[in-house]
Amino acid sequence: MCKVYNYYLQHGVLMDIQQFIAKRSFEVDWSGIRVMFAFAGEIPGVINLGIGQPDFDTPAFICEAAKKALDDGYTRYPPAKGFQDLREAIAEKLKTENKVIADPDTEIFVSVGAMQVIFNTVLHLVEPGDEVIVVDPGYDYYSQIRLFSGRPVPVAAYEKNLFKVDPADIKAAVSNKTKLIILNSPSNPTGAVFDEDILIQIAQIARERNIFVLSDEPYEHILFDGKKHVSIGSLDGMKELTISAFTFSKSYAMTGWRVGYAVAPKAFIDEMEKLQEHMVSGVTAVAQRAALAALQAPRDCVHEMVKAYDKRRKIIHEGLNAIDGISCIQPESTFYAFPNISSFGMTSWDLARYLVKDHKVAVVPGSIFGKRGEGYVRISFAADTEKLQEGISRIKKGVANLRL
Ligand SMILES: Cc1ncc(COP(=O)(O)O)c(C=O)c1O
Repeated sequence: MCKVYNYYLQHGVLMDIQQFIAKRSFEVDWSGIRVMFAFAGEIPGVINLGIGQPDFDTPAFICEAAKKALDDGYTRYPPAKGFQDLREAIAEKLKTENKVIADPDTEIFVSVGAMQVIFNTVLHLVEPGDEVIVVDPGYDYYSQIRLFSGRPVPVAAYEKNLFKVDPADIKAAVSNKTKLIILNSPSNPTGAVFDEDILIQIAQIARERNIFVLSDEPYEHILFDGKKHVSIGSLDGMKELTISAFTFSKSYAMTGWRVGYAVAPKAFIDEMEKLQEHMVSGVTAVAQRAALAALQAPRDCVHEMVKAYDKRRKIIHEGLNAIDGISCIQPESTFYAFPNISSFGMTSWDLARYLVKDHKVAVVPGSIFGKRGEGYVRISFAADTEKLQEGISRIKKGVANLRL
């Protein structure tokens, strides 16, 4: 197919369409994780410990609610900012779980996952030349920032601090051009939780300098050892400066349903609603009904899944630390471990490629998560015990061969 296309291109039968694509499109990179998985997908028998989604099925009662919604006729356009009853249920959850008071009519927007909230926030806030502070290593927000001609300003989070960002480093990175700070706690890929005192200090910086905070909170429920999640939007004076991104994807094993929500001051929610009409009209009606059922039920299913992640976390943590040359701090949250692989003297891409090609185990190169992610790989423990044990034994064998 590609050969034929190239032949026609060279012989002038086809135009090179790329030259017509708007330049801003090239500011967006292909997701490094997808690139890695495309590579892994070509190799049969790979154990994939890279995937960032629960391996559980969506709980049955949520699927049943979606089926019922279809029978009840939820097949038409939904309101652009989400069904009223879903926004009310979200407001109730925010009040009781996140200590965030939000008006369901004006301060909540039902989105296509947390991803849409991230995209919209950058779109509505960042102007050419604006600086956006991101944590490094951290989730990849670079493409969105560059798409809108913003400048990402990475702030290091060090392994010696359990990958918790130091507010003093954020303060030092703030300039007159800083428009936004993006925080993701609990953190992908490091499993770090930014404790309340860290958030209080960042909130103070944001208030003093009038900087907005995008608080990306998909892993709010996946916490271990009694760790508590604090939403920065709940802190004094932060409601006006915070856009929070939440999702059903991780807590409820609902990645494919694509439902999340934004909590933000009315002016942002209005912009999101206005644009939604022009972009996708709204979030799929049945998916919203399923999300409502999830919120209306007790959190038992979430707790069950977190309990299982906790067991697997111990297997991964012990298993990785037992491998010569690898050290791994205990993740406090999420379903990711972020082991240090720097002793092998290879880039994280080279090690990941080697492991998948020669030992059939896929992990994610740490450098995908920023420059400071070099020397690490991300390993997901959203996989069953058997797969985890086999994956660890393949990694062990693989890295032992490197030492021969
Ligand atoms: C930190 C972080 N933010 C946002 C997302 C996107 O989540 P959603 O499925 O809700 O769009 C993910 C998914 O992996 C994530 O890890």
